[in-house]
Amino acid sequence: MVTVSVPGKVHLIGEHAVVYREPAILAAIGMRIAVGARKTDSVRVSDREMGPDLEWPVRECKEAAEKAQRLWEEGNKKKDFSGVFSLVKGSNFKKVAIGHVLNKLNIDSGISMGFSGNIPMGSGVGTSAALAVVIAKAVSEVYGKGLDNLQVNELAFDIEKFGHGLPSGGDNSVCCFGGLVWFKKGNPNTIESLKGEVPYNLENFVLVQTGKPVKTTGELVQQVRDLDPSVRESAVKAIGLATQEMRKALKEKDFGKMQALINLAQRNLKQLGVSTPEIDTLAEAVFKIGGAAKLCGAGGGGVVLCYHRDKEKLKNKIRELGFEPMEVELGVEGVRVEE
Ligand code: PMV
Repeated sequence: MVTVSVPGKVHLIGEHAVVYREPAILAAIGMRIAVGARKTDSVRVSDREMGPDLEWPVRECKEAAEKAQRLWEEGNKKKDFSGVFSLVKGSNFKKVAIGHVLNKLNIDSGISMGFSGNIPMGSGVGTSAALAVVIAKAVSEVYGKGLDNLQVNELAFDIEKFGHGLPSGGDNSVCCFGGLVWFKKGNPNTIESLKGEVPYNLENFVLVQTGKPVKTTGELVQQVRDLDPSVRESAVKAIGLATQEMRKALKEKDFGKMQALINLAQRNLKQLGVSTPEIDTLAEAVFKIGGAAKLCGAGGGGVVLCYHRDKEKLKNKIRELGFEPMEVELGVEGVRVEE
């Protein structure tokens, strides 16, 4: 039995704009998905969060992954990924993800995977990216393929495409490599660790679950793409500039500036139509007590990242609003094999 674990992530700043080749700063968070995996004849998945255990013949998983690849390519021509999105709904995501890794690594036998973890599902903190990374790494470990993190990250990016159409690749990169990452989509992508520039711990951050989004990341990214270009472009540019300034603020330990930039990002994400009334109320209340808050990931609900110099004051305000604050460590280790 091999156990592999991987963290979730937050965008400190830059979500959505990163899809349009603006930079983003992402942090791996101290919430993880773990998988215990071993060789079997078929593909077996158990995940208490998702319901009863599932089992598929290896061939069925590999064919489902081939179909996902075909549908993604067709979707890419039409810039409409609804075909592949409906194929990978629910537990089929794991089926296709495992099938894809077996295909790419030329493996014809199965694997049993037991998933556990404490990352809020489908809420902007990277569960799909974390699953993609942990599946790629676990298959590689169980079958002795010895993939390095770059190769694991490449496979995870393929899987993210099935779920999100044209993801930036930022989520899977930070889940895989961990730490605090400067990410820019490109050919190739820029993935820079900010550890040297930001050698201290990012403290006084709290996460708040405002409710699971109804729409998926793929759907929300599409919704932004469908906006009037002038509305979209001004918000995307503003977030891009704020991300450049955030890098400087972090380097200079200018937390006042950092707060202002988080609040600015939230205003621009609202302009992109991905905030919700609950998130707006929370963000405004945190702003009023002198803190900062913004939605995480695709938005449409989900987790909000909050910051205040006085963490107790922040937590009290969050509770007063009827939410439960979740303390979180930022910049943790990426994918790893557990002892
Ligand atoms: O909601 P999440 O955790 O899947 O994050 C999505 C982040 C986006 O910037 C909206 C999309 C992307 O591909 O980077």
